[in-house]
Amino acid sequence: MKKKLYKVAKDTNLFLKKYLKLQKKTDLLKAIKYGLLPGGKKIRSKILIDVGKIFNINYNVLIQIGAAVECIHAYTLIHDDLPCMDDDDLRRGKLSTHKKYGESTAVLAGNSLLTLAFEILSNKNLKINDNKKVLLIKYISNSSGHEGVAGGQYSDLNFENKKISFNKIKNMQIKKTGKLFSFCCVAPLIIANKYKKINKFKKIGENIGLLFQIADDLIDYSGSTKLAGKKTRKDEAKGKATLIGLLGYKNTIKYSKKLKLTIFNEINKYQKRPSDLEETIEFILKRTK
Ligand code: IPE
Ligand code: IPE
Ligand code: MG
Ligand code: MG
Ligand code: MG
Repeated sequence: MKKKLYKVAKDTNLFLKKYLKLQKKTDLLKAIKYGLLPGGKKIRSKILIDVGKIFNINYNVLIQIGAAVECIHAYTLIHDDLPCMDDDDLRRGKLSTHKKYGESTAVLAGNSLLTLAFEILSNKNLKINDNKKVLLIKYISNSSGHEGVAGGQYSDLNFENKKISFNKIKNMQIKKTGKLFSFCCVAPLIIANKYKKINKFKKIGENIGLLFQIADDLIDYSGSTKLAGKKTRKDEAKGKATLIGLLGYKNTIKYSKKLKLTIFNEINKYQKRPSDLEETIEFILKRTK
């Protein structure tokens, strides 16, 4: 699994490097590349590749769409680390972007990464028809804005140091993390004209993202800063609303295993086992970073 993930990360970075090379040189590029390329797992691209494989979608098309997702993801991480949000100095084993380049540069690099995603998806070198490109852009925009990542991040910050219910925590995590995974599960269906299955895969993606965020919270609770490449044991100190805070560590592990089985039950209706997607989902819970 690690080898396959590494290949996707390498191909995604290669595409992004080439893409940026074709653009004008600007003073923001250093910070953009710093926040985008090294160290990230590119697991969202991997999920996109895995679902795309079930529906026989061209690998290069998937890599390009995955690159767009990773631009948005990198932007959210750069902003997430800012002093006005989680105030983190370490990311992917290095100084976070604002620590390296300053806050205003980090904000602008983040903004540029968000719009870069739309450039990539509307590019003529992405070989799918224009109607599908519009649908992809519509879906990824919706996943990133107030109904998605930005809205979820708002709730995450707003919930700090408050008693928050199970459902509200779950919905916040589905928005801040699940929606981008949901896009990765839906994009291959848009390309394959499987419109009837979209709602099912939307839900599968949200659940994979929720599982991913719970695993991230578990890493924060019991993982090592060295392995994770970011400071751990911060959520409790910041008063973050997490399932661990609400249910405790052991019950959260139990819940995550149940959630994993729910996801497996759903995806196995559409694929032959064992699959790359299944392997990636197993990895999500086992990872240390
Ligand atoms: C971290 O995401 C932020 C969350 C949504 C939990 P990743 O763990 O995918 O971060 P990178 O890209 O591998 O650094
Ligand atoms: C971040 O969640 C989710 C995003 C959308 C960026 P976290 O705040 O838990 O992510 P880390 O732990 O800083 O990577
Ligand atoms: Mg955060
Ligand atoms: Mg954070
Ligand atoms: Mg975290």
